[in-house]
Amino acid sequence: MENTRVLEIDSVSKYFGSLKALDNVSLAIGSGEVFGLLGPNGSGKSTLMKMILGLIKPDAGTIKVDGIDVRNNSLQVRRIVGYVPETPRVYEFLTAIEYLDFIADIHQMDAQAKKERIGEFLRAFELEGRENEMLSGYSQGMKQKAVITAALIHKPKLLVMDEPLNGLDPRSARIVKDLIHQLSKEGVSTIFSTHVLEIAEAVCDRMAIMSGGTVLAEGTASDLRSQAGMPGSTLEELFLKLTGTGDVKNIVEALLK
Ligand SMILES: Nc1ncnc2c1ncn2[C@@H]1O[C@H](COP(=O)(O)OP(=O)(O)O)[C@@H](O)[C@H]1O
Ligand SMILES: [Mg+2]
Repeated sequence: MENTRVLEIDSVSKYFGSLKALDNVSLAIGSGEVFGLLGPNGSGKSTLMKMILGLIKPDAGTIKVDGIDVRNNSLQVRRIVGYVPETPRVYEFLTAIEYLDFIADIHQMDAQAKKERIGEFLRAFELEGRENEMLSGYSQGMKQKAVITAALIHKPKLLVMDEPLNGLDPRSARIVKDLIHQLSKEGVSTIFSTHVLEIAEAVCDRMAIMSGGTVLAEGTASDLRSQAGMPGSTLEELFLKLTGTGDVKNIVEALLK
């Protein structure tokens, strides 16, 4: 890993009532690194990502972004982080350009930089010519592209995306994957969650497999295979074994009987 640590998650735990959503999670991400969070529903991925932004506070442990402790400096952290939530809420009654202008203004971008940056993304996401339409008329995929643009408008150092490829058609998903790769070359780090293991394998430098609020394994895809003693396996086989859902084949067979 690169020596500059953009994200350091150290021994983080979180309870919701008596439910332990995160149990002593530690992870570190270097500059330009692309990191995937994999895990079944309820494994704590979204909770962890919200904590990076300071939207949820850990009960124990610390999170630092670019050396800044999120606990008491969440506004400072949000200036250098871009966030795409799991179920983004957009202002339906704004046009795409009004929405993006508004987000850029929150970040106090100057008019010229704002115009250029928004233009670049509209082109890249093939939304050019549609920017004066209301977001209420946008498809889910188009909204997702607008939300990803909003997350990147202020040139964050760290991009946090919760299931970013949800609702995207294969072409749009490809554009987002290429974008993550391009950002990485420019030194921007990305942490994102996904259910789609091929995507994780194609895009991530390293990944963590989570279950029940803990990190079961972490590393490159090949690290994970050797840790699990499954050298020739697919990421899917590995995932199913580690998360204890390896009996799905039997379940499916039983269902089909
Ligand atoms: N605000 C909340 N209040 C109570 N329980 C929550 C809350 N947010 C998440 N949880 C619970 O914490 C666990 C982890 O959830 P989450 O982080 O959303 O997992 P994932 O994103 O991996 O599906 C789940 O059991 C979920 O029901
Ligand atoms: Mg989630």
